[in-house]
Amino acid sequence: MSNPAVTVTFLPDNRSISVKPGVSLLEAVRKAGIVLPTRCGGKAGCMMCKVSVDDGEVGALRPPGDAERRKLGNQLEQGVRLACQAAVLKNVRVHIPEDPLKAAVRRRLEAARRGEADELW
Ligand code: FES
Repeated sequence: MSNPAVTVTFLPDNRSISVKPGVSLLEAVRKAGIVLPTRCGGKAGCMMCKVSVDDGEVGALRPPGDAERRKLGNQLEQGVRLACQAAVLKNVRVHIPEDPLKAAVRRRLEAARRGEADELW
C-alpha cells in the first residue's frame, strides 16, 4: 500500500502542493514552481537552499543527517534546514527566505508608497 500524499505549504506565498512522503523539500519547492537558486546540485555544499520551519513542525521532516548537521550546526535549533537534504514526512509549513534583490525592490516600493502618502497629507 502506498503512503498517502502530504501537503507542503510554502510561506510567505502560502502556496501548497501535495507530495509523496520522503520527497526532499527542494523537489517540493520546484514542484510548487518556486525559484530557490542552488549551486551544488543538492549535495549539501552551497547552503543556498536554506529554509526554515516553526518549532512545532520540526518533526514533520526527516531528522538531519551528518552532512546537514555539519553545515548548519546550531542553526538547526532555530528550525533552519537545507531543502536539498530535508525529506518531508508529514504535512508541513516551510518558510522560504525572500530573495535579497526582491527584498530590496520591495523596500524601495514601500518607501516610495510612503513618500506618496506623505505628499497627499
Ligand atoms: S542545494 Fe546546495 S546545499 Fe542544498
